[in-house]
Amino acid sequence: MPVRTSPADDGPQPDEGPSIAASNHQRHHARAAWPDRRLADLLQIEHPLVLAPMAGLGTVELAAAVCQAGGLGSIGCAAMRPEFATQAIERLRSLTKLPINANFFCHVPARLDPQREQAWLERLEPYYREFGLDPSLPAPRTDFPPFDDDMCRVVEAVRPEIVSFHFGLPEPSLLTRVKAAGCRVMSSATGVEEAGWLEERGADAIIAQGAEAGGHRGMFLAADMDAETARQSGTLALVPQIVDAVDVPVIAAGGIADARAISAAFALGASGVQMGTAYLLCPEAATPPLYRQALRGPDAAVTVLTSVFTGWPARVLANRAASEVGPILDAMPDFPLPMAALALLRAKAEERGSIDFTPLWAGQAAALCREMPAEILTRALADETLKRFRQFAEGVGRDGLPADNCRPA
Ligand SMILES: Cc1cc2nc3c(=O)[nH]c(=O)nc-3n(C[C@H](O)[C@H](O)[C@H](O)COP(=O)(O)O)c2cc1C
Repeated sequence: MPVRTSPADDGPQPDEGPSIAASNHQRHHARAAWPDRRLADLLQIEHPLVLAPMAGLGTVELAAAVCQAGGLGSIGCAAMRPEFATQAIERLRSLTKLPINANFFCHVPARLDPQREQAWLERLEPYYREFGLDPSLPAPRTDFPPFDDDMCRVVEAVRPEIVSFHFGLPEPSLLTRVKAAGCRVMSSATGVEEAGWLEERGADAIIAQGAEAGGHRGMFLAADMDAETARQSGTLALVPQIVDAVDVPVIAAGGIADARAISAAFALGASGVQMGTAYLLCPEAATPPLYRQALRGPDAAVTVLTSVFTGWPARVLANRAASEVGPILDAMPDFPLPMAALALLRAKAEERGSIDFTPLWAGQAAALCREMPAEILTRALADETLKRFRQFAEGVGRDGLPADNCRPA
């Protein structure tokens, strides 16, 4: 039985039947005093806290735990084959009766470019030699398609309540089918123009992804990627501008890991938050041991935006690959082709206990990660934020809010 953090935490539990879970959910739903309930009402969740989909590191257990705490659990299906995506979503569905989110990528399919691929291999050659790898061996190919007809069939069959996309939206006929399956649609915007584009095409909520965010930048309207990467806006500036530009609920994402940041997001006009990095130390996450070690120590304080791991800018904990090979390289093979050649180096380095070549996706609030089960963390984040709202409403006195209000445990 999960540990409860306060007497108020009597939301649905994993072992409760659907009817008890549903009635607890409705009772809670009516009570939680979020200052903006537009997202919670739209998605039929108790707390407007969204677990970011994290392809490769998020698990169905992590997503289920967040759902059970009243948030929205997400499963990142981007790199899965359709049959695995079906299994993952069905398993998540078996663990919770509450709304779930399945996430997919809408990237432009990679075009092969032998010159760029050769240049990339040459760039890695000194490292191949250092690790005793033969640079002349053909690197295995890593690629996965964007959301397509096959994946759309998965969505139509398993019908998650919410489907979120990264890198824009699928082509209109696919989007129409997702909506016809009854799914609410969300997608990330890294600027006001992208937010307007998403709203116009029917997004029900927009994730405002600030530059602090861990993982890949969701930008999709950039003509000049390098210029756009340099222009990416932080969450504090981005959220209110997107809130002003669209009518649908806005979810703040990027560098949010505790009640201070969640309450700030609501002050900026957000109707909810999406957090990824904050969950990487939860036992349910598939974060490997060396990655966890980095997140626990001083290395968590330094993140960098780099394209070296996949060919697309993403925020990671700084390591040798990001700083020495990158951070940003011109003329890389298209996303996600560069992964394959790097994967060999990564495997060799990890054999030696090194994460010099491992993509350690993480946002700028990585040092604020708390190591606890995801259900407890989600309830704690909700409780601490609601307490903060009450303190704001009551007036906080000369000394401000207590400094230890939500310090990482
Ligand atoms: C490890 C990791 C993996 C991610 N994978 C995905 C993904 O598969 N799909 C997606 O839409 N976003 C992904 N993101 C980005 C998140 O949606 C979100 O923008 C980000 O986590 C917010 O910033 P934060 O990490 O500081 O909370 C990922 C983020 C991280 C940290």
